[in-house]
Amino acid sequence: MKNIQSIRGIHDSLPNDTIYFQYIENIFKNLVSNYGYHEIRLPILEYTVLFLQSIGKTTDVINKEMYTFVDKNKNKITLRPEGTAGCIRATIQHKLLYKKKQRLFYMGPMFRRERPQKGRYRQFHQLGAEVLGYEGPKIDIELIVLTFRLWKILKINKYIFLEINFIGSNKEYKKYEKELTTFFQKHENHFNEDYKKRIKNNPMRILDTKNLDIKHIIDDAPIITDFLNEKSRIYFTNICNCLDLLNIPYTINPYLVRGLDYYNYTIFEWVTYNLGSKLAICGGGRYNHLIEKLGGKENPAAGFAIGLERLTLLMQKNNSNYIFCKSTDIYIISSNDDSIKNKAILLSEYIRNILPSLQIIVNYDNKNLKKKFIQANKHKTKIVLLLDKEKEKTQLITLKNLITNEQKILHKNEIIKNLKFIFNL
Ligand code: HAM
Repeated sequence: MKNIQSIRGIHDSLPNDTIYFQYIENIFKNLVSNYGYHEIRLPILEYTVLFLQSIGKTTDVINKEMYTFVDKNKNKITLRPEGTAGCIRATIQHKLLYKKKQRLFYMGPMFRRERPQKGRYRQFHQLGAEVLGYEGPKIDIELIVLTFRLWKILKINKYIFLEINFIGSNKEYKKYEKELTTFFQKHENHFNEDYKKRIKNNPMRILDTKNLDIKHIIDDAPIITDFLNEKSRIYFTNICNCLDLLNIPYTINPYLVRGLDYYNYTIFEWVTYNLGSKLAICGGGRYNHLIEKLGGKENPAAGFAIGLERLTLLMQKNNSNYIFCKSTDIYIISSNDDSIKNKAILLSEYIRNILPSLQIIVNYDNKNLKKKFIQANKHKTKIVLLLDKEKEKTQLITLKNLITNEQKILHKNEIIKNLKFIFNL
């Protein structure tokens, strides 16, 4: 019988990756907490209508990528493709904005039925943050500076570049969209059916095409910046000036388009060229009308989400392994005798009670001592404690330092004192 495999594009996370996930998640949690963000845990399943009303009916996420099913109560349910919509739904449902503005963060799996490839999965994980109730460019900057700090902590800032764009208010955007549609219609004979549909539904999505045959047309297309009013121009200049002040390098990309329809004003992506073709590690921006659109009181908002797997790939590619060269502090070996193995467990628990910061592994194999020492080396062990039947009678334990190769025979009562000295505790 053929073994059952995981679903295409939906992967197990094995220890070599989860060690990165844990490391990144911990740093992210501490970082956003230090900026005053609080964690919100959101359901993975939501009513489909939530995403239809927020992400936009003409996006790929809605049209092609959602995992949707009808449950036994005949409700249409979707596995969340992103976190922002659920976060806003929860904010409205629990009246979180009633008295207080909010800085929230979340982490967890998202689902999009995209064509799987390296860095693009059908189940992936995001680390996200949403700031609710705050208006103005400084919050947009806070989101960017926070992510920039994260790249620096993770030592990958050399490989990630910031692209920003400013798409104005809904009114400005609509005016631009109309102009763009007219422009593309003039060149309609160059476009295939898929693009013709986009001209009608979402012409800005043509701007970030990878199709080289139509690139020359896009080069002449109108750009959003020419459609911004004075207020928007000041807002965008404010952001750029502040980024300069903070020494954060960026590129203004008037062709930057987000794949979700709720944005206005500032949009940004952190991209890398280090994993093959250009890939977004993080995307976000302002979405001042989403709360109102989902039935809440009008309130400004902005946020971002980072792809955990893509971030991990970037760190792995750039030799960040040194962070994870985790060694084992103590490896306890005993002779193959059940009563001695029990003594080994008792010893490990005794040390853990007094020195809880040490990592201790107990070997329970019925192998010879040589093989057990090989295992100790595989675990990059510093100290081996050896309990054998003869010495155990007099409560003597062999302590071997695998780094210095020194060996001592100690009474059980001397073990803690010696370990404290060795591990500087
Ligand atoms: P997004 O750009 O769709 O934005 O996704 C954010 C990040 O999730 C991407 O930059 C990428 O790293 C990762 N990602 C997206 N799709 C996949 C995939 N199929 N496989 C692996 N990684 C993926 C959002 O989701 C918005 N909710 C962000 C946001 C929050 N905007 C405002 N607040």
